[in-house]
Amino acid sequence: MLSAYRPRALVHAAARLSVRAASSSSGPSTKYTAVTHPEDAESLPPTLHRQITRLESCTANTYARPPLIFTSGRGSHLYTAHPSREYLDFSAGIAVNALGHSDTGFIAVMADQVGSLAHASNVYWNEWVGELASLLVGLTRREGGLGYAPDPEYKFFARDSAGHLFTRTYMEPDPAALPAPAPAGAKVFLSNSGTEANEGALKFARKYGKEQWAKRTGRPWEESTKTRFLCFEHAFHGRSMGALSATPNAKYQKPFTPLIPGFDVGKLNDMAAVEMITEDHCGVIVEPIQGEGGIFECDVAWLEAIRKRCDEVGAVLIYDEIQCGLYRTGTLWAHSQYPVSAHPDIVTMAKALGNGYPIGGILVKEHIAETVTVGSHGTTFGGNVLAARLAHYVLTRLSAPSFLDHLALVTSSLSARLAPLPSYFPKIVSGIRGRGAIRGVAFHTPEDAGKLLKMARERGVLFLTAGKDVVRFVPSLNIGLKDVEHAMDVLESCLVLMQDGQA
Ligand SMILES: Cc1ncc(COP(=O)(O)O)c(C=O)c1O
Repeated sequence: MLSAYRPRALVHAAARLSVRAASSSSGPSTKYTAVTHPEDAESLPPTLHRQITRLESCTANTYARPPLIFTSGRGSHLYTAHPSREYLDFSAGIAVNALGHSDTGFIAVMADQVGSLAHASNVYWNEWVGELASLLVGLTRREGGLGYAPDPEYKFFARDSAGHLFTRTYMEPDPAALPAPAPAGAKVFLSNSGTEANEGALKFARKYGKEQWAKRTGRPWEESTKTRFLCFEHAFHGRSMGALSATPNAKYQKPFTPLIPGFDVGKLNDMAAVEMITEDHCGVIVEPIQGEGGIFECDVAWLEAIRKRCDEVGAVLIYDEIQCGLYRTGTLWAHSQYPVSAHPDIVTMAKALGNGYPIGGILVKEHIAETVTVGSHGTTFGGNVLAARLAHYVLTRLSAPSFLDHLALVTSSLSARLAPLPSYFPKIVSGIRGRGAIRGVAFHTPEDAGKLLKMARERGVLFLTAGKDVVRFVPSLNIGLKDVEHAMDVLESCLVLMQDGQA
């Protein structure tokens, strides 16, 4: 059951229908069957191979990279210098470059901030950390999330919410014009990455759980048994020991055992998992739309049941919206589209927040944030003035109505092009997953996903894989309609070749 609130991405049904009608009648594209960006040794300059061999000799071997060195980017396009090539980036640096590459506003804000102050540590206030927190909380209250129903009238003070270049000569407005400080209902802790945001969220839940247990039992918190977590199959929460313990994938976990004890693993959308949450659980962590694991969406009714059970046993519900949040589904949070009865206590974010500048964040209900006292958590870089100001700028741009109108249009076009693929290619494509600008094409044969990724790259388009058998699309949120059409033409051309046994 969806809430009565209609997110902007859902408002443009008429536009969506006309896009669908225009594109689905003509059958799959065969425009891009020829290889244009070959990767075989003979097609690439010998100097490139020598350069990569030299770099490989001293770089940790954690990625199987294709023989490409990107030297610049603009919008949704990336460029290599040797050979001189252009690629359409339909992956946005793994759901990061929401504003695309080399956005002029982003560059100007970065230059301005670096020219005044880049870092002075969290020992002191800086001009932007609190502004970013205020914007995150204010937008959450306005658009809905973290237990708040959407309230379009919610007033909050945001520094230059029009998204203009923030200058160093910013003047404080008349204090009398500011709303009286009132509890905002939520607080923000800023980190450097998604992994660290989840790590912090797990720590917050543990501390809160122990303290609640001590209050309830009258015994010292050190004796608390309320320390367990529930996570889910196919989840990806990061690679530090805590986040990795909540990432039940043998490929990532096995080499590093023993992990942190106390993590139980449930099945996504399985009501039996709800029963796994006991009085000993301090937290449950779940992605409303799993990204790395294969673009699996949680059922809203299942999330409501998880929420209810968490309330019964006093467990903190954490939504990892690191990949699916920050407008990727058309609203601030993926869960902004759910009823309050399916909202979490904590939301973690990263990726798009910095548009490529590393930053993560934890948005926490106020009563839980109160347990995170001075000295109980911290970071050198997280929320420094440069990161916070850039994220404030990015979030201001992403939340602008005109930006979201454009996003609704391009995601409608994407949906229209993806929808017929299972019927065009029934032997290859098993289904379409996700919503908004986090989408996947699932394959019957897992190897086909990797095969398609390479074929598309050899035709100048960058996709990603997810899980075992999915090609994933997480483009920039300001991508142009033409670029969406081009990416889908290349996708279809590759699928035609695969279907005809030519790949
Ligand atoms: C849902 C989710 N959580 C956590 C992470 C980890 O974030 P980071 O790589 O910034 O540490 C990722 C990264 O892909 C992710 O998709």
